[in-house]
Amino acid sequence: MRTIIEPFRIKMTEPIKLLSPEARGKALAAAHYNVFLLDAEDCTIDLLTDSGTGAMSTQQWAAMMLGDESYAGSRSWKKFEATVREITGARHIFPTHQGRAAEGILAQTQVRPGDVIPNNNHFDTTRANMEFAGAQAVDLVCDEGLDPALEAPFKGNMDLDKLERCIQKNGAAKIPFGMITITNNTGGGQPVSMANLRAVKKTLHKHGIPLVIDACRFAENAYFIREYEAGYGDKSLLEIAQETFSYADAATMSCKKDGLANIGGFLVCDDDQWAEDFRSALILREGFPTYGGLAGRDLEAIAVGLMEALDYDYQVYRHATVEYLSKRLIEREVPIVRPAGGHAVFIDAKAFLPHLSPRMYPGIGLVNALYLVGGVRGVELGSVMFGRVDKGGNEIPAPLELVRLAFPRRVYTQSHFDYLIETIEEVWQNRSAIPGYRITYQPKILRHFVCHFEPL
Ligand code: F0G
Repeated sequence: MRTIIEPFRIKMTEPIKLLSPEARGKALAAAHYNVFLLDAEDCTIDLLTDSGTGAMSTQQWAAMMLGDESYAGSRSWKKFEATVREITGARHIFPTHQGRAAEGILAQTQVRPGDVIPNNNHFDTTRANMEFAGAQAVDLVCDEGLDPALEAPFKGNMDLDKLERCIQKNGAAKIPFGMITITNNTGGGQPVSMANLRAVKKTLHKHGIPLVIDACRFAENAYFIREYEAGYGDKSLLEIAQETFSYADAATMSCKKDGLANIGGFLVCDDDQWAEDFRSALILREGFPTYGGLAGRDLEAIAVGLMEALDYDYQVYRHATVEYLSKRLIEREVPIVRPAGGHAVFIDAKAFLPHLSPRMYPGIGLVNALYLVGGVRGVELGSVMFGRVDKGGNEIPAPLELVRLAFPRRVYTQSHFDYLIETIEEVWQNRSAIPGYRITYQPKILRHFVCHFEPL
């Protein structure tokens, strides 16, 4: 059969509200034109994030009922530990309430002021955690990854020359670890090849620097490797994931993505000293090491979800939905990051709205237009999220102005995608009338979540 179907059927539904255009206009104004401040029930198709928004399977719900809520050494912990160990091979495993808690513990225990942390691209919370610990977070993605229109298979790869130069310039002593994010969320959800992972590991190892993998979407990355990297076509996604983690000295994970759970994360490592540091910080901030920040039932759901994410048929379907949308947008000449990422389609807002300069936040213009036209909630990954302010107080725009439409796992069907395509098409046809925005309120860090805007 040519049609790729959802490899599941639905036995529980959740109603979606369809607001009138006037009601959406009112809701957006009341949210100060920041979609993070909207009520979720006012969003018809909510593509704000793929994080914690997925639908659990019958197996996961059944596992939840087995949750052992003992404080220490619960059965649920044993299952979680065994599954995470099978996938990562790590010696030390720590559950956390979500990914940023793992990043926070890593930064708090291993990073000193003045350190430098290389990554292909830091996700916003990763960057914030490294900077909060006093380090400089540097992004060393390959040049292909900076060109949204270029079709190349592994645009999440780290540039090995940039990495070598970064080490030469700062000295290995200033680099407590290097990171690589799979898939590269900030750079368009683009995958990292096994060859690149191996080479990054080799370069860091030569200088005695550990490699930490930000593994949120490790199963989607494994799927890309299987499909597009020579030599992996007959491997299972589990085998590919195991090889991936074999290059890691440590890993941070948000189980809200490829754990197919609504909450959860983990931090793993091989080094005993790191483990001791992590354990102490974990007890202080998250909880006892056998539950971290999680209930026993969460540990159960994650143990099942991690393996379901490595199911090949599930990844085939997941990838097909993203391809379905991206193909139709390319046909309509809507500028998107190519090829489509693992968990999202990223629209190039700079090319979509050439009449808006980065200072007018084209990404916010596009996000708000999608909401006003179709009740679709996306997110800006551009100068609001990643813009920097220099010493003179001037804003330096982000290199890319993207709008991300991230797909919750196992939630929306093909007709939702058809509705989405119609919405984007209408916004595209009327793009010249879309206004820019200015910021009227912002906090010092992670401003995109809570800042207020006003249309220009
Ligand atoms: N690393 C990456 C690459 C991420 O995408 C995220 C979260 C995190 C770390 C932090 O994990 O949310 O569990 O604390 N990304 C979500 C997103 C929020 O929408 O992309 P967390």
